[in-house]
Parts: sequence; structure tokens; C-alpha cells
Amino acid sequence: MSAVSNKQPASVGRSAALTGHARVPGDKSISHRALILASLATGTSRICGLLEGDDVLATANAMRAMGAHIEKQENGDWQVIGVGPMGLTSPAAPLDFGNAGTGVRLVMGLVAGAGIDAEFTGDASLSSRPMGRVLDPLRQMGAQADAADGGRLPVHIKAAPLMPASITPDIASAQVKSAILLAGLGIAGDICVREKIATRGHSETMLELFGANVSVTEADGFHNVTLHNPTGPSRLTAVDLNVPGDPSSAAFPMIAALSVPGSDVVLENIMLNRQRDGLMRVLRDMGATIEVMNERHASGETCADLRVKYSALHGIDVSADIAPDMIDEFPALAIAAAGAQGTTHMAGLAELRVKESDRLAAMEAGLKSNGVSVEAGADWLRVTGAPGANGITGRIAGGGMVETHHDHRIAMAFLCLGLVADHPVTVDDRAMIATSFPEFFDLMAGLGAQID
Ligand code: S3P
Repeated sequence: MSAVSNKQPASVGRSAALTGHARVPGDKSISHRALILASLATGTSRICGLLEGDDVLATANAMRAMGAHIEKQENGDWQVIGVGPMGLTSPAAPLDFGNAGTGVRLVMGLVAGAGIDAEFTGDASLSSRPMGRVLDPLRQMGAQADAADGGRLPVHIKAAPLMPASITPDIASAQVKSAILLAGLGIAGDICVREKIATRGHSETMLELFGANVSVTEADGFHNVTLHNPTGPSRLTAVDLNVPGDPSSAAFPMIAALSVPGSDVVLENIMLNRQRDGLMRVLRDMGATIEVMNERHASGETCADLRVKYSALHGIDVSADIAPDMIDEFPALAIAAAGAQGTTHMAGLAELRVKESDRLAAMEAGLKSNGVSVEAGADWLRVTGAPGANGITGRIAGGGMVETHHDHRIAMAFLCLGLVADHPVTVDDRAMIATSFPEFFDLMAGLGAQID
């Protein structure tokens, strides 16, 4: 007897030109941080444009379980009444983060510094991901944390006093940096994170907005982020925040518009940030036409409208140096590369093996099953596009069934491939797309892409 499957497949075939304006949801990294810091602040914060994806809602539930009051208002904004310094309380039940790696890792740091106990759980994908990268530096600061074998969930953090420290993480990870800084909110003294490669700085930017004393310096080849607490735990003050559109979500309509002949779309209010714009830089080097319009500032970040037109792309070598600036965008880039003339070689991708799925393996298998020439190594991916691809002579066969492995970005990437393939591309499950981009299907339909 076969097991009952709850999977919801989706299919997409060759599309006519994509046109029009679209607004992607709020940035996931900023949304998690906004809820966490507002929950710890004194006073009432208002958050406009919060991403209402499952990952961020899991963080909201966790913060509620530790004492914050978080509610959506009638006008669509979110109101957060914070607990004030050291005001978090131990949750009565385990905190279930579902699929949310950023949420669980950041909140582990917060809890370690808050003098409370909490247990952390997640879905099958999150439970297979490494947590030692966060727990080890927290233990260096004095945290008491137990994890399942291999440093996996469930994790139990017990109340323990933390000490000032200077920590040099082994891997370039904004999640690790942020967990250490959030733990530092509860101590007296300085916490310094010494990054060999600077990662997205949203935590430090937002900590400053909430009134924390943060400094960022470059010295001896390190990017140093320090939280200063000379007189005890940080005192955060509530603020009103505007969450800009998520460049990692915009990546999908962007590569779709670049790939489908005749397309011309405007993606509104997209965050531009040096540690998040690697995909745009690489696509431009491949020949993409992406125009930045109406550049403006919101809540410490820059955002703009992006006009993206169909472009004949060519393959390039993507250096490992740029990988941290586009770490979530490689599934999208691999699809753009499948429609580009020549070979695109992407290096420095070891971290892709421990994202929501093993993204190198998932991209390799999915591209192969759709007739695209691809090779993968331990930390690299090479995709060769067909001359005359991009739908002109229909050289992407398609017709494959893609295993998404519970990974939202694998699902969205392959649905974009279907738009330029000879035969429809099917993904085994669309459900996980709601973790980061619940509006994906409606937004793509609004631009003219029909996905069933
Ligand atoms: C994130 C950092 C990145 C990214 C993740 C969000 C963040 O992870 O992949 O989707 O919000 O800090 P790493 O920092 O572990 O690379």
C-alpha cells in the first residue's frame, strides 16, 4: 500500500513575454530581525511591509511565547509591544520554528543572552541542518546548550550568565554573527564578531535603529562588528520600521523576465545592499539589462525600483568571493545560466549543501532531468546553456519532474525554468514556497506567467 502524499505539485510551460509592475513581499532577513528587536525593546514598534511568510510567522509565535505582544493591525502594519531589557520569560512549550533557519539561529542567540530556558524544534529539513555553528560560539560566551547528535535540533538552552568575548567565526554567516550579537544584548561589556568576509549587516544596522551602541571597523583584514554594553544589558527603544522588498524573492521574477523573450517588467521597492546584490552584479556581467530607478532610503536600507528586460545572456566564471553576497540566489542564477550562451562556472558554494536542502545536489538533479548540461563538485556548479536557448529555438528540453526536498527556492527556480522550456517543468511540491514568498503564484500570473 503506498503512503498518502500531502505534496502539491505545480507545472509550468513555455510563456509569452512577461510585462507589468510587481511588488515582492518584505525582506525575510529584515522581517525576522524587526520582530526580534521590537520584542525586546521598551515601547510599541510598528512594522510596515513585514513578510507574512511561514518562516517569519514562526519567529512571531516564538517571541509571543516569550512575552512580547505582536498583532497585525487593520491597516496591514504589525504592532509589537516589547518586554524591555531582560524582560523575556521562559516559554512554556518548545519553540517550533518550522523550516526557518534564520529564525531558529537568531533566537537561540537571543535566548542564550536573556537568562531564560527554551527548547527549539523544527520540521524535518530544519532538524537536519547544523546548529553547532551557532551553539559553539555561544558556548564560548558561557552559554549552556544541549543538542541532538551532530549538533542538530532539538536544542535546549538553559539559563546561564554570559561573558564579553571576541569571536572569529569559521564560516561567513550572517546568522552566526547575528546570534552572537543578539546574545551580547544581555551582557555587561563588549561582544565583538571578527568576520573574515563581511556578511549581510542587517542586524547591526537595525540594532543601531533601536538605539544599541554598535561600531563597525575594518582592521587587520577583518570586518569587526562590536556591540558595546559598558553598563549592563542593552536598552532598546521601540521604533517604526519599513521593510523593503526582498531581493532574494525578486531574483525569481528577475531571471524569468531576463529569460523570456520580449519581457519588460518593473519590480518595485527592492532592497539594494552590497551584501545582497551579488546576483544583480553577476547577471549584468552576463549581459543583463537591469535599470535602477527611484533610489531611496527606508529604515537604514536603500531600495529602488528595478526595470528588467529580456536580455541575451552569456556564461561567465562567477568567483567564490561574491558567493556570500548572493548565497540564496544560486538556484536562480543556475536557471538563468541554463538559458545563457556558453558555460557559467560558480565557485565557493560549500554552504549550499546545508541550506533548506542540499541545493547543489537538488540543482544538479533538477537541471539534468530537464535536459540541461550540468556538473557539480563539492563546492562548485557548472551549467552550460544552449546557443539559441531562451525560448528562441527551444533548446531547453524541460519535461522533468523536480524533487524540491522541502526547499522553497528550488521550487521557484524550476518553475522559472519551465517558462522557457519545450515541455512543461513540474516540481513535486509547491507548499514550501509559502515560507518566503506566499504571493509567488499571483505575482507571476500578474506578469503573464501561468503556473498550474
Ligand atoms: C540569512 C543569512 C544567510 C541566508 C539566509 C538568511 C540572514 O544564511 O542564507 O537565508 O538573515 O542572516 P548564512 O548567514 O548562514 O549564510
